[in-house]
Amino acid sequence: MMRLWPVVVTVLLTAAVARYVYIPLPDTIQEPWKLMMVAAGLRTSMHLASLKDWLGCDHYVKSVGPSPSSESADGATKAGSDGGGVVPGVKVSDITLAGIPVRVYEPPAGGEGHLRRGLMYFHGGDWAFGSAERRSSDALNRMVSDELNTVVASVEYRRYPEVHFPVPYLDCLAAAKHFLSTEVLAKYAIDPERVAVSGASSGGNLAAAVAQEISIDDGVSVKFSVQALIYPALQALDFNTPSYLQNQDVPVLYRPLMVRFWLQYLGADPSLQPQWLVNNHSSSHHPAITPELRARSDWAVLLPPKYRRNHKPLVVERGSQGPAKEAPGLLDVRASPLLAGPEVLAKCPRAYVLTCENDVLRDDGFMYARRLQDAGVTVTNDHYEDGFHGCFSFIVWPVEFDVGKRAVRGYLTWLQNNL
Ligand SMILES: *[C@@H]1O[C@H](CO)[C@@H](O)[C@H](O)[C@H]1NC(C)=O
Repeated sequence: MMRLWPVVVTVLLTAAVARYVYIPLPDTIQEPWKLMMVAAGLRTSMHLASLKDWLGCDHYVKSVGPSPSSESADGATKAGSDGGGVVPGVKVSDITLAGIPVRVYEPPAGGEGHLRRGLMYFHGGDWAFGSAERRSSDALNRMVSDELNTVVASVEYRRYPEVHFPVPYLDCLAAAKHFLSTEVLAKYAIDPERVAVSGASSGGNLAAAVAQEISIDDGVSVKFSVQALIYPALQALDFNTPSYLQNQDVPVLYRPLMVRFWLQYLGADPSLQPQWLVNNHSSSHHPAITPELRARSDWAVLLPPKYRRNHKPLVVERGSQGPAKEAPGLLDVRASPLLAGPEVLAKCPRAYVLTCENDVLRDDGFMYARRLQDAGVTVTNDHYEDGFHGCFSFIVWPVEFDVGKRAVRGYLTWLQNNL
């Protein structure tokens, strides 16, 4: 009888772990167990961080994000040499552009007088987490630098909870203007005709917003030639788009979480989350949300029919207090680039928009691609049927996804052909 106990305990433990890890996922996800493990890991670290926060040890963002004593440029090179995706020939240095910390990746030296491409990168992490030094963005930037002979400038903009909108945007804009200056381009031997701006998720939001501002600023003579947006977040008026509803429980970006990140970014009260989830913040009686603004984010018109089917727009007649009281930045195009007018979009650079089927932000990307196209901008929309939010970061050991690697490959190919 005694010898049975270890078996019973093992079975029970396994069942408990499986129950904790298992979540139902869409059929299109290719490596479901791997994604479940990632989700469980993130869930655990969020719980531990919230616990620490609650105990008063640390803000939860601090516990989940990288430690404050992040690696130096040299340290990252060393730390990276044991992992995958590291390119030894790329020179990495930490500098500042207009006072903003930036990590610069320079490709192995070309011939004398040979100009290189340039790319400014804004990392993701919901305007709160992440860093230019994190291994996933570090690995990506090294690849772009080496394979595409590009000087990459990855911006360490300030983040929540220290700051909220518009500070992260203003940091990125200041760094971008300085990067595009004649002195900096000359210093790094960058071809002024071949400079990209790019970012993933919240970084894609920042890249789209900065691209718009640079495009319409007559004081900036060198413009970005292309923009590459990886599953960007582009609007906060409607959290009931088909993709928000379809993917509300798909890791790693759950719908309530994304709403919370928007509230944090816009400096709004976190207790508004239930109201925002039901679109009470953008109800039809708010005069500030004009029909024109609504039309710019109206998925019932902007999405291809296939994605509109089986869904009805959720517009509440009378909801909460509305933008002016809850979050003044809600209608600001610098926070929600999808709300920009066609005259602004028409001036924007050629665009690459990566979207994932299993992502709450899918329709933000679809709508922006469509509106840019309607404004006359050439757009490539790479859509990954088996993609999920975050897959673009999962390209280095120990968390590698096939779809992430394919997505990165597609991005590199597009830049190769268009930058
Ligand atoms: C949304 O607004 C309506 C009308 O004011 C209100 O009855 C409802 O409780 C609100 N929903 C939430 C989740 O707060």
